[in-house]
Amino acid sequence: MTLQAENPTTTTTNAPAQPVVRKVGGRIGARVEGVRLGGDLDAATVATLRAALLEHKALFFGGQGHLDDESHLAFVSLFGSPTTAHPTVRGEKTHVLPVDSDRSKANSWHTDVTFVDRIPAISSLRTLDLPPYGGTTVFANTGAAYASLPLPLKNLVDELWAVHTNAFDYARDAETTTTAQDDDRIAAYRAEFRSTTYETEHPVVRVHPETGERVLVLGHFVREFVGLNSKESQTVYHLLQDRIVRLENTVRWNWSDGDFVLFDNRATQHYAVADYDDHHRALRRITLAGDIPVSPSGARSVVRTGDSSHYTN
Ligand code: SIN
Repeated sequence: MTLQAENPTTTTTNAPAQPVVRKVGGRIGARVEGVRLGGDLDAATVATLRAALLEHKALFFGGQGHLDDESHLAFVSLFGSPTTAHPTVRGEKTHVLPVDSDRSKANSWHTDVTFVDRIPAISSLRTLDLPPYGGTTVFANTGAAYASLPLPLKNLVDELWAVHTNAFDYARDAETTTTAQDDDRIAAYRAEFRSTTYETEHPVVRVHPETGERVLVLGHFVREFVGLNSKESQTVYHLLQDRIVRLENTVRWNWSDGDFVLFDNRATQHYAVADYDDHHRALRRITLAGDIPVSPSGARSVVRTGDSSHYTN
């Protein structure tokens, strides 16, 4: 569905034009035009954007270079309650997480912060400094991935639970192309990231609290599945994860200066492609607090280790 703005030449009221939403991928992603983001958007525009977010899961806005940390925060606060920057990593002005290639590169498939019980509902990213090439972000639809599973696999995952932790093995998928100096910075960031250990058991299938859709909850913070040994866990993980990241299930965003992305963190995974050599890449991220996931049978995620109440309260 494309939500069309009224043609301003035929409009008889002074109501602001509604944003125009155009799909950019078959299963995920839409570009939104005709809106200047900020904390002053009217309720109708916010409702249109929320409906578009739930439908398309990742919304891409160009021309938002006027945003700074304050107005970024003011805009996303129209959609929910901001978390602090991160459960363990120090942010800027409390809610803003620097995403900076000097410290880390999120080039591994994940959903943001799944190692706590209240996984952020919505994430947002704003450009600060882009490399001259590369540095795209790919988003995958975890609801479409579930829907496309054959029945025997649906039956398996509907009953399956996974342990998510921030103490995961960062070297697992990494290419080792960094310098010794980079290694020190990255090691310091990882130490901060892991300074408190969190472990939470989540259902592999959660019911989306707003749409009722069943979505898969996986990504790189998964350590194992409950009741399976590590070899079995790896096999099942790859079986399911491969479904999520099938190219037809993804959209790839090639950032331009002033771009802003809002995505439903409950129904997506993402991957920041680290193909920009030694160039600098910096974004700013703000996440909004989410609910505790609920399985198809009504069971809620369970914290094993770590109190993250400071993150979402
Ligand atoms: C993130 O995973 O929060 C950052 C994504 C990106 O760097 O594009």
